[in-house]
Amino acid sequence: MKKLALAITTSLLITAPFAVMADGASIAKDKCAACHGEDGNSPNDKVPSIAGFSVDGLTEMLNAYKAGDREGDKFKPEDGEETDMNAVTKEMSDDDIKAVAEFYASKAFKPAVQEFDAELAKIGAKIHEKNCEKCHSEGGASAEDDVAILAGQWKPYLIEQFEEFSEGERDMPKKMAKKFKKLSDDDKKALIEYYASQQ
Ligand code: HEC
Ligand code: HEC
Repeated sequence: MKKLALAITTSLLITAPFAVMADGASIAKDKCAACHGEDGNSPNDKVPSIAGFSVDGLTEMLNAYKAGDREGDKFKPEDGEETDMNAVTKEMSDDDIKAVAEFYASKAFKPAVQEFDAELAKIGAKIHEKNCEKCHSEGGASAEDDVAILAGQWKPYLIEQFEEFSEGERDMPKKMAKKFKKLSDDDKKALIEYYASQQ
């Protein structure tokens, strides 16, 4: 009897996790890859690369879209239908979100190869160091503290986010807002060139 019980417990232990666990790789392939790329390095310059972000950061970002706290921009990938992040996350369970977050967090972020203004980038580096490095550490290359990676992110995407922050269309943490609101338009341009320059 004891032996049988043990056999049953063991077989449950082996099969149960597979039966209930969401598969991050297939969710990514079916629901994300057309826009963000198979490995989270986006082929579209208006769609951010998300490879190598932290699990917690990705989870928070996806939940913000799901809750409607962050508004997604509509996008039509080459081989797919137009949709946005709010619609994509609407039907996702907590398990789905966790699984796909773990999948993309395990991939390596590849900086986008793009044009940039080297002079402005130098000025941007100083502005970053003074105002942004505290949270976006390693020149914006770190995903620690659950922030998005800025270094090597697509420029058209960054330009759009800077505009949304500036116009109050996207919320930002209070402490970031304190720094961000002091930036001139020229400061913002220089910062964007700095992030784009890190390749
Ligand atoms: C139709 C294209 C499309 C699909 C499909 C899509 N995304 Fe997005 N995603 C975007 C765009 C565009 C943005 C940036 C603009 C915005 O806020 O909507 C974005 C933003 C994000 C962000 C925020 C990144 C940051 O730096 O702040 C995350 C995380 C994300 N997507 C993850 C996913 C995951 C995971 C899936 C699949 C479950 C997915 N996306 C499916 C287009 C898409
Ligand atoms: C107190 C910490 C903090 C400071 C200081 C800070 N940020 Fe942020 N930043 C964050 C956090 C947290 C997020 C994610 C917020 C979210 O998704 O709602 C973020 C998001 C961003 C994003 C959006 C990235 C994306 O892909 O979603 C940009 C761009 C950005 N910050 C730029 C800056 C710049 C430029 C500065 C300096 C002027 C700065 N931040 C200072 C914490 C900070």
